[in-house]
Amino acid sequence: MGICGSSSPDITIVPNKYTLDVDNDCQKNCFNAKQSDSSIKINSSEGVVKKTDIQENNKTNKKSDKILFNIQKNENKKEEVKKEEVKKENNNIQNNNKINGELSFKNKNQIINNDNNDNKENNKNNKNSNFLNVIESKGTKKRSISTHELSEIKDLVIKKEKNKESNPKLSEIKKVMFDSSTIKSKDEKEKDEKNQNEKDKKYQRRNKKSTTLVEKSRLESKFKEEMKLCVLSQTLIEEQRGDPTKKYKILKRLGDGSYGTVYSVVNNQTGMSAAMKKIEKVKENEIDDLEIKNEIDILKKLDHPNIVKIYEFYDTLTDFFIVTEYCKRGELYGYIKNYYSENQLAVLFYQVFSGLSYLHENNILHRDLKLENIMISDIEKDLNTKEDYFWIKIIDFGTAKIFKRNKIEKAVVGSSYYIAPEVLKQKYNEKCDTWSVGVILYMLIVGRAPFDGKNDDEIIESIKIGVYNNKHPKLLARSKEVQNLVSCLLERKISKRLSAFEALNHPFFTKFNGRALFCNFNEHEIQSYLDNLLNYKFQSKFQQLVLAFVVHNIPQSKDTRIILKLFRYFNKKGNCKLTKEELTTGLYKFRNKNIVDSAIDDIFLMLDGDNNGYIEYEEFLRACIDKSTALNNDNLKYAFKFLDKDNSGTLSVDKIMKAFVKKGNDTLKDIFKNSIQEVDKDNDGIISFNDFRELMRRVQ
Ligand SMILES: Nc1ncnc2c1ncn2[C@@H]1O[C@H](COP(=O)(O)OP(=O)(O)O)[C@@H](O)[C@H]1O
Ligand SMILES: [Mg+2]
Repeated sequence: MGICGSSSPDITIVPNKYTLDVDNDCQKNCFNAKQSDSSIKINSSEGVVKKTDIQENNKTNKKSDKILFNIQKNENKKEEVKKEEVKKENNNIQNNNKINGELSFKNKNQIINNDNNDNKENNKNNKNSNFLNVIESKGTKKRSISTHELSEIKDLVIKKEKNKESNPKLSEIKKVMFDSSTIKSKDEKEKDEKNQNEKDKKYQRRNKKSTTLVEKSRLESKFKEEMKLCVLSQTLIEEQRGDPTKKYKILKRLGDGSYGTVYSVVNNQTGMSAAMKKIEKVKENEIDDLEIKNEIDILKKLDHPNIVKIYEFYDTLTDFFIVTEYCKRGELYGYIKNYYSENQLAVLFYQVFSGLSYLHENNILHRDLKLENIMISDIEKDLNTKEDYFWIKIIDFGTAKIFKRNKIEKAVVGSSYYIAPEVLKQKYNEKCDTWSVGVILYMLIVGRAPFDGKNDDEIIESIKIGVYNNKHPKLLARSKEVQNLVSCLLERKISKRLSAFEALNHPFFTKFNGRALFCNFNEHEIQSYLDNLLNYKFQSKFQQLVLAFVVHNIPQSKDTRIILKLFRYFNKKGNCKLTKEELTTGLYKFRNKNIVDSAIDDIFLMLDGDNNGYIEYEEFLRACIDKSTALNNDNLKYAFKFLDKDNSGTLSVDKIMKAFVKKGNDTLKDIFKNSIQEVDKDNDGIISFNDFRELMRRVQ
């Protein structure tokens, strides 16, 4: 049960709808949720309050959720909104739990308005980042070529010329996708597709041989300049128009939150699963819209393996839809009945702190960490320990916020069991999140919340008193390290409480292999990925963006797990922001020092696509994945469709600009122009899918 209020005398705490009941006889830790209040009445003399209440879903053990208020200041709108509510209640069965009422405490408006103002401010700040960001990067280093290399180059030029002659002319191959699809039978189409794939494979093999040193030096000089231009990959996540159910087939309802309903869906074109959060628009209520846009803007900025990634979003007349990756194993809440070993806890919480420290380093507060907002994306059985390890993702950025360092936050937001005492006092910073993680850890160990009560009032009172049972037998039965971690997180004094980054270095994780267990690969598995990384060639900005789009939107399931482990292995700090030093030291373990030293500057320059000084997860993934799999026919068709907004079957510089950049920028326009010129045989500034594929297949 969540609250959006405060415990100070002038603020009312909304009563709990469910209370947490612990079955003491139960040998395993288990929670039973009971409904304690069937309805909540809120009165307000200051304005109409609409509350999107907890949806009473079929899950009887659901116990905590946010309550969010949307205040319309204008008294005159009161009646209108009420009418709207009645209409909605009649029309929408999913909203039949909605409770309308009025609010009767003094400071409520002020608090919420504070937060909304902040959100507006965020939104304003974020706006700029939706568009192209052109940033000058640090200087580039030139490499001189030895005489030996020069003669090698000559040989290769001759070889390459020969190869060129025998290369199939891809532009002459029939346009399978666009021209023939309407007139050919299914069998014929499949045959064509097969032939095409065969040809592509041959092309790839030939191309691979011919593109070595000559190609590298040519591309190096050509694209190094382009590397200085930074196009943030967040521009690839864009607002879509139209009805999302045309693109996604809805499979089932996954959960209801305080905002809306989340469905599991499948992308009709790629067959990929996704989660779609549908948020009904509250008419004439801009505050709601701002909150949703805030969630989208924050998600767009994030690239971390333990944070759910956003694919796209829709803003229709009646609803918002946020499409994110799908976490097939459900909420961590669903697993609280299990007993977890120290190793399992270490692996799980190392990921939570990794995601959280990344968020905090990027100045983002989550403010609603709880068992329901930590999803299990996968479970891996460790062959040595025979234990199951969870791969987790943090979700729900509905109440997240971009904060300013050293600025004290005031808005009271959170969910009752998990809310930090200083949030109730309206004086807090990012460490409110580590408190919530402390509560989650305690819950998983002990089986009940550290601060409990029959309703929200009692829970909040208990948090304010701040005494929890740190002598609970289930806690005492645990290692000294985990007991210490709990107490360092449930520390009332903010300055003494561990930050997420500090928590990553807590002895608990070292002793119980929190890090080691989630980068457990064998050397044999990673060789081809290391080769891909070290041979990562310069790409044009256009190729870079298309590859980024494909890698982001079409997860390469076979590769990603091992590459993620490798990434984590290199990233000793654990925050998933890989520095050049970390990458260099990591590579020394597997490759000759000279080879690493001669390549590292270029690799880093190429990998750090957004020029922020460190490599994030997807940047690393792009370099390591097998390009011929990632850029296969189907995936390229998907990317082409993304760029070809008017479905004409062709691409022009203007279309590319529109899809990737949104805003006019002459330098980038020239870069894209040069890119397509490479395959634009008739020089008309327009390329077909086959030309596009030819261009993309040059990426290795
Ligand atoms: N990516 C996802 N994969 C699987 N289930 C999800 C996903 N996102 C949300 N859910 C389910 O929907 C619930 C509500 O989603 P959430 O984003 O937390 O919305 P709210 O802000 O309304 O709480 C979650 O607690 C979870 O059960
Ligand atoms: Mg949630």
